Amino acid sequence: MIVLGIETSCDETAVALVDDKKNIIGNRVYSQIKKHQAFGGVVPEVAARDHLHILPQLTHSLLQKEQINPTELSAVASTIGPGLYGSLLVGTNFAQSLALGAKLPFVGINHLEAHVLTPRLTNNAQCPFLALLVSGGNTAFVIVKNPVTYQVIGTTIDDAIGEAYDKTARLLGYPYPGGKHIEKLAQTGNPKTHIFRPPLLQAPNCDFSFSGLKTAVHHAVTQVKTSNHSQDLTQQQKCDIATSFQASVLKVLRAKTERAIQRFIQNFGKFTQLVVCGGVAANMPIRNLLCELAARYEGEMLAPPLEYCGDNAAMVAWAAIEKLRYKTPLRTTLEGVKPNLRIGTQM
Ligand code: KG4
Repeated sequence: MIVLGIETSCDETAVALVDDKKNIIGNRVYSQIKKHQAFGGVVPEVAARDHLHILPQLTHSLLQKEQINPTELSAVASTIGPGLYGSLLVGTNFAQSLALGAKLPFVGINHLEAHVLTPRLTNNAQCPFLALLVSGGNTAFVIVKNPVTYQVIGTTIDDAIGEAYDKTARLLGYPYPGGKHIEKLAQTGNPKTHIFRPPLLQAPNCDFSFSGLKTAVHHAVTQVKTSNHSQDLTQQQKCDIATSFQASVLKVLRAKTERAIQRFIQNFGKFTQLVVCGGVAANMPIRNLLCELAARYEGEMLAPPLEYCGDNAAMVAWAAIEKLRYKTPLRTTLEGVKPNLRIGTQM
């Protein structure tokens, strides 16, 4: 079984061919980041237009390179939500038209479910497992009971973790997406220069909140600029703020992950695997922390290779294979997309 996956939910145009033996036959990701950087974030209209321009050529070149005719596919899948409305429409209309023309089933995929299922493609995750999804738009603990049944046990009540990294980076003068810049700056800062209280640390649940942390960083930046009598920060001052920010994130992640593991143990008697996915899973201190916590509870931490942590279409094709194997009802009609789709929602 070979499935063509298409991902256009935000600012990556991606196409991939994956088979049911876990072979990623071909994988293409075109990032629009340069088009959005001038605006400090993703502009929905620009994103949709760029998908429209790039998607047909990207798909054509992938199929041609792998010498696969659409009629040889088992299905065409695309992300139908959550994401930007216009961007989702471009990918889904394209995928549905291709499926219709080649007389193939179309499989609509939940972007978040595709992220949490990725370690079953790349790392042999076995259900049930606990997943931590950390990206630019989402932060959630999800129990994956089987490839089509999910339970969300914690989420963010405001900003996503990646958003907090991006906004902190912007305050320190770095372009979008800023996560990797903060990680680098945080390698050489002094965590004691600023104390940012870890948000929702004491709340007896697995939920997160990051908007207060962003405001605390904003106040710190203003304070340092005032004492510098300048609009600029020194490199060391940037490193100190980034380090304190990341220390606060790590502290809250530690507390919430331990709580989520304990809840998993209460439900299933035993903990074996903690899966981390989404763009922020590229962050090494976060990976190391999760590895340490998983080992403490006698389990392992699994993270996809870096190229499959962020948005990609191999995860979309794989999620479709999981759905097809489970014989879940497929959306075959030309219905609309679902920008606010939640994880675990019947489609
Ligand atoms: O999953 P993803 O590629 O797409 C969206 O959710 O849009 O995640 C992108 C997010 C951005 O917020 C980016 O700053 C963050 O992942 N990110 C990182 C790192 N690399 C990417 N955050 C922290 N540390 C990193 N090394």
